[in-house]
Amino acid sequence: MKLSLYSFIVCVPLTLPVTYAGQINNALFDQGKAVYDKVCSACHNYLPPPKAAPPLLGISGHYHQAFVDPNKAIAHIVDYLKQPAAEKSMLPPMARQQWGLMAPLSLPDEELKAVAYWVWEIYTVECSKGAAAPWVCRNSQGNPPLMK
Ligand code: HEC
Repeated sequence: MKLSLYSFIVCVPLTLPVTYAGQINNALFDQGKAVYDKVCSACHNYLPPPKAAPPLLGISGHYHQAFVDPNKAIAHIVDYLKQPAAEKSMLPPMARQQWGLMAPLSLPDEELKAVAYWVWEIYTVECSKGAAAPWVCRNSQGNPPLMK
């Protein structure tokens, strides 16, 4: 009994998906930020005003509106980056009318997963600061202010 409890405690964290462990994975977050700096920042600003695409913190907010499970959200983002399509989009149609559909990216899976993780977690980071980004964070009633 003691042994199985021990192996449960030891093994479970190792078998959890690397993409999400319930708190920020700083190494993965930094790796994702580096991909953002290298690739995504050509079109996406982090905060408004927009460059050639919607700012990523707002996009993160839309993904937090659409998904509860971080792993599903991150997998959806990875899939979108490889093959964007209007029917997969979590943004209002207005975004594609204004900016057009995003072009597919061919990056290694590892980089796509890291940057998708970063996109998901920037909402968590910003909204834990309280008023840092009130336009994107859930209000005190738990309702997200962004409209899908
Ligand atoms: C050449 C410009 C360009 C680059 C580079 C680019 N994007 Fe985009 N992205 C767009 C545009 C335009 C949209 C809005 C239209 C859409 O949603 O397809 C968009 C939308 C998105 C969305 C929202 C998807 C949805 O549900 O509609 C995500 C997430 C995203 N980008 C992440 C990234 C990440 C992460 C990178 C870097 C790895 C990146 N983008 C690089 C132009 C770009």
